[in-house]
Amino acid sequence: MGGDVFSAIRELKRGGVVALPTETVYGLAANALDAKAVEKIYHIKERPPSNPLIVHVLGGTWIEKYANLGDNPGRVKKLVENFWPGPLTLVLGKKITIPDIVTAGSGKVAIRCPDHELFRSILQACNFPLAAPSANPFGYVSPTTAEQVRQTLGHKVKVIVDGGQCSIGLESTILDLTQNVPKILRPGAIAADEISKILVEPIATYEPIVSENPTSPGQLKQHYSTRTKLELFPNGIRKYAGKTQGSIAVVFNSKPLDLDEIAENFHSSRENIFWFSENGDQSEIARNLFATLQKLDADHYDVIFCERPLRSGIGIAIDDRLLRAAANSTDPKA
Ligand code: TXA
Ligand code: MG
Repeated sequence: MGGDVFSAIRELKRGGVVALPTETVYGLAANALDAKAVEKIYHIKERPPSNPLIVHVLGGTWIEKYANLGDNPGRVKKLVENFWPGPLTLVLGKKITIPDIVTAGSGKVAIRCPDHELFRSILQACNFPLAAPSANPFGYVSPTTAEQVRQTLGHKVKVIVDGGQCSIGLESTILDLTQNVPKILRPGAIAADEISKILVEPIATYEPIVSENPTSPGQLKQHYSTRTKLELFPNGIRKYAGKTQGSIAVVFNSKPLDLDEIAENFHSSRENIFWFSENGDQSEIARNLFATLQKLDADHYDVIFCERPLRSGIGIAIDDRLLRAAANSTDPKA
């Protein structure tokens, strides 16, 4: 364990906030049982107190301390056995052990068991659950490297544990188990059909919601935004038909065959053409999505054009993040 791991444990034990790597994105963690520590997370992120936090645990045996398994405990058992540790967050009835500030007053708690060695060793050493949102200022792109956390929150967070680049790169799938039919509240690396196969029952798939008062505040329309204007184009398009102005970065899913021709087709130049993955691999696109957007955002283009993914598997989650990022990318706080 590196020195920063020990500093993180010390800081967490004394009620501080630290940034930690998970397999999905970096999180901003504090003791989930300490309301004062959790309050600091909201403050650092400038996150509205109405938006609850995910509670991170070491394994299935911790669940019953903090959540009620509900009418169908078999569901929770199957999901834990098949997907934990991993990018699946379960929304269950909350027990009073979890302070209200964590769940934003809701009677439900979101619980996840991260699959990252450093995060897990810290959980083990602390022996209390960690509340952790993604380690970005509210509304901005989630960080997938320690450097990204440093750039946006380094002035507010003393301890940032560097665990390398996140292997998945998109936030966990959130599944609400408090209703008769389990329902996806946020798509992620674990797709609806994988869950439904394990549960051997249908689940309600995710509907993008634009509501003012969504069931999961992560469903707020605009989120994950770049400051630079972001425009999406359909998958497979290789020529831009509209008018363009200013400096343009264009991001494809895979490396275009002819860079000069593509640059011309998009009224851009060869050095402003980018790709999330060499060969269009969906997992690689997910892994590189936020880092690429944040890098291009720092380069001050007038507009970023970005190709939408194929909508299958993790592509549904990628598309969800892109649609929100493009909803109003010039005003990330909205
Ligand atoms: O992969 C992840 O889930 C990452 C890593 C750090 O674990 N965390 C993450 O946290 O994405 P955050 O706070 O950025 O997004 C959590 C989402 C929010 O949209 C929040 O509204 C929703 O989970 N959520 C949290 N608690 C909830 C609850 N009790 N009921 C419904 N939604 C909840
Ligand atoms: Mg977030």
